[in-house]
Amino acid sequence: MNRTGMATRNLRFSLGLLALAIALATGTRARAEDQIDQSLSEAGKVHYERYCTPCHGAGGAPGKAVFSSTKQPVDLRTYVQRHGGTFPAADWLAVLADARPGGPHAAVWRSIRQAQSGTTGSSAAARGTVGQIARYVMSIQAK
Ligand code: HEC
Repeated sequence: MNRTGMATRNLRFSLGLLALAIALATGTRARAEDQIDQSLSEAGKVHYERYCTPCHGAGGAPGKAVFSSTKQPVDLRTYVQRHGGTFPAADWLAVLADARPGGPHAAVWRSIRQAQSGTTGSSAAARGTVGQIARYVMSIQAK
């Protein structure tokens, strides 16, 4: 084999290695992201079961509607579907972090805040909890 042939072969080999390295690196990152999603969702499920099932029911199916006799809690398994196919993150926070008395979530928002930091309640930490619950709710969406 002449020098040009060798050089071409070395170059091909190096490019092959580079492609492999990129594939492995992106694969590893994707797996790490999946694992993060998974653990957030699992933490969210625990919070969901504690705070949301009385009204929204296990696994997102409507619960016993203890809030009021006229308003039935919505089915959270169709949340994304009812919001044009994407998870409405801003809406989600607005609905949950709504402390106005008389609303369905005032008491639950207060409990989440208090559980996070004793009696004072930390809004930032509570938003974290609500974010984990969002991951869980994403994972139970009807396909
Ligand atoms: C005391 C009962 C009660 C509890 C507890 C409760 N909800 Fe609700 N939720 C409701 C009711 C009632 C509605 C419907 C409100 C309306 O129609 O104005 C609602 C609506 C919602 C909506 C709006 C759905 C949509 O399609 O826009 C979301 C999101 C939601 N709840 C999430 C949660 C999460 C997450 C929890 C737990 C942290 C929770 N709720 C706890 C009663 C409750």
